[in-house]
Amino acid sequence: MKIGVYPGSFDPITNGHLDIINRAAKLFDKVYVAVIRNPEKKPAFNINERLEMAKAVLKGRSNVEVGSFDGLLIDYVKKVKAHAIIRGLRAVSDFDYEFQMALTNRKMDPDIETVFLMTDYKYSYLSSSFVKQIARLGGDVSSFVPKAVEDKLKKL
Ligand code: PNS
Repeated sequence: MKIGVYPGSFDPITNGHLDIINRAAKLFDKVYVAVIRNPEKKPAFNINERLEMAKAVLKGRSNVEVGSFDGLLIDYVKKVKAHAIIRGLRAVSDFDYEFQMALTNRKMDPDIETVFLMTDYKYSYLSSSFVKQIARLGGDVSSFVPKAVEDKLKKL
């Protein structure tokens, strides 16, 4: 049984994240969507809100489970007995940071691979930060996020 962990801040979860989860769920027997409790950047949504949104949009998916973690990602990966870390790549600009993170995690545990999945080109420009900014300024985010997230963003 191949298990993957898809970690992130998910502040909030977007259609771009869902695209990566859909791809990962076809490759892995089980995918843990791992929401970091205390991201480096102060999140707009607290951990319960970020978890609730992720759970709501992923409800009923038999091989996808939403969890949260604190501390080192690699420790969570080992805790759930996963084999790989899944990360999405949008554009070349993502590469440096992702490369550094993948090699750092590999140094800490050489048995855990990082697998990069390419997002659909229609989400290649999408980021949670811009989605929040648009929502705060009264713009329409309905094509960027699922309905449950759009409703939460309206209250930001
Ligand atoms: O959605 P993000 O902000 O790109 O996710 C980044 C995340 C949460 C995957 C990354 O910051 C992380 O793994 N943090 C946990 C701390 C850790 O393990 N650091 C060492 C790896 S470089």
